[in-house]
Amino acid sequence: MAEVPVVIVVIRVIFELLWGLVLMNYETMKAIYVWFMPPEPKDVADDIILITGAGHGMGREVAQRFGRLGATVVCVDINLDSCQETAAMIKQEKGKAFSYTCDVTDRAAVFKLAEQVQREVGDVTILMNNAGIMPCKSFLRQTEKEIRMMMDINVNGVIWTMQAFLPSMLESNKGHFVTMSSMAGMMGLRNVVPYCGSKFAVRGIMEGLEAELHEDPRNYNGIKFTTIYPTMVNTGLCKRPNIRFKSLTNMVEADYAADKIVDAIRRQYREITIPSDLYYLNRFVFRVLPYKAAIIIGDFLATGLDPHD
Ligand SMILES: NC(=O)c1ccc[n+]([C@@H]2O[C@H](COP(=O)([O-])OP(=O)(O)OC[C@H]3O[C@@H](n4cnc5c(N)ncnc54)[C@H](O)[C@@H]3O)[C@@H](O)[C@H]2O)c1
Repeated sequence: MAEVPVVIVVIRVIFELLWGLVLMNYETMKAIYVWFMPPEPKDVADDIILITGAGHGMGREVAQRFGRLGATVVCVDINLDSCQETAAMIKQEKGKAFSYTCDVTDRAAVFKLAEQVQREVGDVTILMNNAGIMPCKSFLRQTEKEIRMMMDINVNGVIWTMQAFLPSMLESNKGHFVTMSSMAGMMGLRNVVPYCGSKFAVRGIMEGLEAELHEDPRNYNGIKFTTIYPTMVNTGLCKRPNIRFKSLTNMVEADYAADKIVDAIRRQYREITIPSDLYYLNRFVFRVLPYKAAIIIGDFLATGLDPHD
């Protein structure tokens, strides 16, 4: 095969670079426009949304909201009673809901669930990875059992469900992965060191799969990703918040968080923090300033978690 002359290669690279710059500017302008003029929330009446950990807290609140919006809600939890209760609440409001018990740490059970849901309900179009636990105590006091279990639920559970539900999304080039990270997935916090690791990990898993699909020549642009980074939410998971300025960095209620999550899913935002101003605090203070400068602001705000026992 004849070699391409060097001059042609150079021209091609320069053209690629210039075209890349044009596209980068276009995408930046588009992002600024969307910031001022957000897209309309999409209609979810034809969606089938599966929520893990739907039996309590934000999972239940989000499930109820999607039920009211006319979506078919598949509630999944390790706790059958609370999961059935959420489904019953949705049905009571004339919504469409199904409930399944599943431990997300059990890969085989997750794959069986995916098969059963496809048969009995249909193709899941939105998968919300919400189940999670948070042991809260100083690093050396966290036991091996607690850490392994937490990683299994918070990290491996996310991988198993995504592996189980991705194939049908790929087939139709339509789907939406939503994963609950945390502010602890954006910055390190005392007393929840392994939990921080798990929430940083899910951020990486979401970005990694997004990159893999983006680079796939089959052009899977119909599959969306939303990662949620809430501050402390009053669900019982954070038992002992320690907050200096309650008006600035207080815990938020689960219904407030659920409204924001549903809105982000319907507008297909790539990531949100709850509340939204923490996004800028994290991006421009904790990631731009030198660490020792940012930590002064962190010390001043003095927001964190005290050990649960
Ligand atoms: N509450 C907060 O302050 C807060 C803040 C940031 C992020 N988050 C994250 O948001 C998500 C929801 O938090 P929440 O406060 O609503 O939780 P929650 O404790 O109120 O509810 C969690 C649900 O997950 C279920 N679950 C636990 N282990 C499971 C398993 N192995 N398989 C299936 N289901 C399982 C539980 O039964 C429960 O119904 C979690 O991933 C959490 O880490 C919570």
